[in-house]
Amino acid sequence: MIKIVKLSHDLLAKHPSPEVALDMTAGNGQDTLFLSKISKKVYAFDIQEEAITKTLKLLEENQVFNVEVIRESHDLFDIFVSEQIDLAIYNLGYLPSGNKDIKTEARIVINSLRKLMNQLKSGAIVVIVIYLHNLEESKAIDEFVSNLSADYDAMKHVVMNRSSSPYIIEIKKI
Ligand SMILES: C[S@@+](CC[C@H](N)C(=O)[O-])C[C@H]1O[C@@H](n2cnc3c(N)ncnc32)[C@H](O)[C@@H]1O
Repeated sequence: MIKIVKLSHDLLAKHPSPEVALDMTAGNGQDTLFLSKISKKVYAFDIQEEAITKTLKLLEENQVFNVEVIRESHDLFDIFVSEQIDLAIYNLGYLPSGNKDIKTEARIVINSLRKLMNQLKSGAIVVIVIYLHNLEESKAIDEFVSNLSADYDAMKHVVMNRSSSPYIIEIKKI
């Protein structure tokens, strides 16, 4: 059976030599940990304290020292990241087994994506994991990505025979 997290990591791992990577929704820190293994420097963002604590703990347990964990909304990433970016992941929704009221919002994700598109290196890969429990969010993000210019390749990875499965949007800066 397809594992969406594994697929999202496989898509990111296609980049031959990532220097700067962003985890836009750190959560439990699994995506941050993965990025730390393949990139020189990682910035991880989350708005809730529980996610920051969990991510820092996971990184410490794994003796990871190339990550900056930042408690801030992902649409403000550019205050902290001045470099051009090679990789970014958004894993949308709420913290698994956390407070379901603290969740990503389409407007904020799109503001973040709009800024991110201007700060990507050529060859950069952006992966967005989207769950179907917030149709307003998925629709708005699909629309934003569909209207990107030809400077980007945008693809959707959908599990066709499991209707409730999350899907992935992959954007590559040409
Ligand atoms: C599905 S979880 C992320 C899972 C995570 N990537 C992992 O590997 O465990 C979504 C996270 O997005 C965070 N979040 C919601 N809105 C955010 C925002 N505006 N900026 C940054 N993080 C946000 C939530 O607090 C939650 O921890």
